[in-house]
Amino acid sequence: DILANYQGTALLEKQLSQKLGISRCIVLPGNADKQYRVVDSFGRRLNQLLGSILPVGQSMISVTGGSTLARVARNLSPDLSKNRQLVFVPARGGVGESVTIQANSVCAEMALKTQGQYRAMYLPEDISEKSFESLQKETSIKSVLELIYRSNVVIHSIGTASIMADRRNLSEKEQSIVDNGNAVSEAFGDFFDRSGKLVYKVPRIGLHVQDLDKIEHVIAIAGGQSKAEAIQSYMKNAPHHTVLITDEGASKLILRDN
Ligand code: BG6
Repeated sequence: DILANYQGTALLEKQLSQKLGISRCIVLPGNADKQYRVVDSFGRRLNQLLGSILPVGQSMISVTGGSTLARVARNLSPDLSKNRQLVFVPARGGVGESVTIQANSVCAEMALKTQGQYRAMYLPEDISEKSFESLQKETSIKSVLELIYRSNVVIHSIGTASIMADRRNLSEKEQSIVDNGNAVSEAFGDFFDRSGKLVYKVPRIGLHVQDLDKIEHVIAIAGGQSKAEAIQSYMKNAPHHTVLITDEGASKLILRDN
């Protein structure tokens, strides 16, 4: 029975990777919408995955914020720092969100749990183009940005567009672009519709989806039936080498949908 279960999951993971057009999917039991412990299991699985892919020596790990990653972070462990120096950096500016789920906080928690280090970047995400230009030249920001661009790992989540439009405090005008464009997913401040078309880009500092091509390991974590559509939409833009950690709840819906 255990074997049948294992084979069933392996098949599900393969079908999902093919459907999403990415190199690998890891599917865990349950539905994150209903059970928080499913998100804890994403964290433990991430810990294992990092343990198997991170080289000896230094790794620069960029992470985004969100409730998924905030919970995932709590499940990392110090065994990851054996023979390694881990430095966690926020993938973007981003004090727009509540403190506990900001990328800065997720970095701090990951560093605490793995006994690694972190660098924070206290910047609003929604800044004007003009301030963006000048801020990029500030030494303290420049040094974190350099670390971000040198990351060998990115860990990010995928959000539901409507929820993210609210959380990112979009102006009425921006909100209507997102609504009228029928955006369903969001990642790194980019909003996409069902077909994967970019609907709106929040002006910001840090990593963009197109930067992911250059990063060796890209790990996306999102689960629950409510995220199925967002995952499908975002993955149309994801680099092929993305590894997705998700659950049965999301996977089964994605595979059912044509
Ligand atoms: C945000 C990230 O903080 O969290 C987004 O910057 C991501 O890229 C989102 O889509 C996901 O949030 P949650 O709460 O659904 O895990």
